[in-house]
Amino acid sequence: MKNIKAIIFDAYGTLFNVNSAAEKCKDKIGDKWEGFANFWRTTQLEYTWLRSLMKRHKDFWQITEDSLDKSMKAFDIDSSMKNELLNLYKVLSPFEEVYETLNILKRKNFKLAILSNGTPSLLDDLVKSNKLDNLFDDLFSIEEVGIYKPDAKVYDLPIKKYKIKKNEVIFLSANTWDVSGGGNYGYQSIWVNRNNNIFDNLDYKPDNQIKNLRELIDLINIKKTGEHE
Ligand code: LAC
Repeated sequence: MKNIKAIIFDAYGTLFNVNSAAEKCKDKIGDKWEGFANFWRTTQLEYTWLRSLMKRHKDFWQITEDSLDKSMKAFDIDSSMKNELLNLYKVLSPFEEVYETLNILKRKNFKLAILSNGTPSLLDDLVKSNKLDNLFDDLFSIEEVGIYKPDAKVYDLPIKKYKIKKNEVIFLSANTWDVSGGGNYGYQSIWVNRNNNIFDNLDYKPDNQIKNLRELIDLINIKKTGEHE
């Protein structure tokens, strides 16, 4: 991890816990809340890929609602819960180490940004509701290019804005396919593997792997000694 000019984070699943909306309703949903949350997330992602391939773009908020409708039917969840779940999705909780880690990184000389499928207003609401809004230089949304990750046009956004090289970016995602997307594009990649998962077989392996974002500080500090300080 050398010559780092920007540290770029995926949002959903990496900084923010996508299961936290359903988890906050677990008393009403019951034991199936986690299966439902995973199904909703998988369906949502499938819709991003399918719409990109079909060239039938809808924004991430509409896709989140479309995938929720299917998931609620699949898990037999009362339709009266829809608005509550959608409202909670707008204010997903960050993982516990996010605030502290970003504050440490903010004191260093890197560009800090989010690069996400989320719409500009979703990303804005997410960082504001979690008091993270003063920590990022940019919130890059795929809406600027109208196609979802892992299209290269998405990963191009920070490169164009910051006028830096692809390998001067550290890109972190908890989503294996997004790590492959960013790494295949040319970023230095870090897989945030919170749950001891297995990586994909997509002819790409991440440059580094960490269990949570706190480990990023060590990873960069170790490699950074005498270089960037
Ligand atoms: C995002 C999805 C991939 O934030 O988690 O772009």
